[in-house]
Amino acid sequence: MADVTICRLDELPDAEPRRFVVHGHPIAVVRIAAHVHAVGDICSHQNISLSEGEVDPDTCQIECWKHGSAFDLRTGHPDSLPATRPIPVYPARVEGDDVVVTVP
Ligand code: FES
Repeated sequence: MADVTICRLDELPDAEPRRFVVHGHPIAVVRIAAHVHAVGDICSHQNISLSEGEVDPDTCQIECWKHGSAFDLRTGHPDSLPATRPIPVYPARVEGDDVVVTVP
């Protein structure tokens, strides 16, 4: 496991996903208020970048723009078909002004 500083907190607009590739892992990073979430960026249904979709800060979900499955940013689980498998969730935290993600 490796802790990687990926950006500064003020570089993440609220509830707007950003894509990073960290040690070869495509990751969608989302800030919701003071919390930062990091999930696998590829939809578990097809090869679609989730960071091109929208975030609902109220439900803490990121929606795949292709067919509409929304994944919980805390657990990675999809709420509806067609996706059935969860996406990876990576530990993420704020350290001072930095956003740090832990990757395998
Ligand atoms: S590609 Fe994401 S729900 Fe189909």
